[in-house]
Amino acid sequence: MKNHIPRIASSEITPEGVYLDRRQLLAAGFATAALGTLGASTTLAASPPALAPLTAARNQAVSTSDAPNSYEDITTYNNYYEFGTGKSDPAVEARDFKPTPWSVTVDGEADVKGKFTLEDILKPQVLEERVYRLRCVEAWSMVIPWTGFSLASLLQRFKPTSKAKYVEFTTLLDPKQMPGQRDAVLRWPYVEGLRMDEAMHPLAFMAVGLYGKTLPNQSGAPLRLVVPWKYGFKNIKAIVRIRFTEQQPRNSWQIAAASEYGFFANVNPAVDHPRWSQATERRIGGGLLAKRAATLPFNGYADQVASLYSGMDLRRYY
Ligand code: MTE
Repeated sequence: MKNHIPRIASSEITPEGVYLDRRQLLAAGFATAALGTLGASTTLAASPPALAPLTAARNQAVSTSDAPNSYEDITTYNNYYEFGTGKSDPAVEARDFKPTPWSVTVDGEADVKGKFTLEDILKPQVLEERVYRLRCVEAWSMVIPWTGFSLASLLQRFKPTSKAKYVEFTTLLDPKQMPGQRDAVLRWPYVEGLRMDEAMHPLAFMAVGLYGKTLPNQSGAPLRLVVPWKYGFKNIKAIVRIRFTEQQPRNSWQIAAASEYGFFANVNPAVDHPRWSQATERRIGGGLLAKRAATLPFNGYADQVASLYSGMDLRRYY
């Protein structure tokens, strides 16, 4: 059984200098509950870390009217192989993961490069809530109220050069904290990529929260990608590196099984996975007997994104 070591003192959780400008973060809605609540939980070692409130107005124009899944569904039915391959593993195994302090390295084909703290990344961003459908390649779906900011607004800050045709994202590599990385289920660290025009599309989003609170660890704290018209595996969690490239990056699932998972991974009911149909999907929370729904091209976002792929054979570029 796992040995629960009492939580470290709050002074260690929030080392001096990490929260450089706490007031600004608070203004950005990124209140650090760690400062108060975590310290108070020293005796409750087994309880998950308290999450800070993150208030942001909903962007109605891009939000689906589908009813959101419950917080419980969203945070206990996860794919996050760094914390196990079972759906309920990440909620348990990621409990002690430390998403602070955090930094993101930016490199490759860009004029502005370097190592940025999460606070640096967040400071200029205007947080908003977006309710998006998430369609997993395993033929289930969920509806999630994310809090975050447009990916384009982040990437533009780094001034990508004309050679930047793609952007690659990398998850933290830390087998000590991420027990799944001790097994060779995937090549670690997890890597994903987008073509620049996809990354700059107004629907592409960086999430730092859900249901009005900072992201729980199992959902990809502190920073994860959300690209709602693509299969869920494109939504890389716990991002530590953003690299602009001229060549198309190779993503983790493509490396693991190129005949089953492609780079584009646009939701497409007409192209089956080699081992199962993609024509229908099961909404999590509806119960196993609930009627399956038809999968929509581009997960229902075709009006907004189909033009990105005009002229491309989407059976070949899956
Ligand atoms: N990111 C990392 N680093 N590791 C993973 O295993 N799984 C992906 C994606 N991001 C994964 C990841 C898959 S397959 C899906 S469907 C979504 O995360 C699930 O996101 P959720 O657990 O928040 O619903």
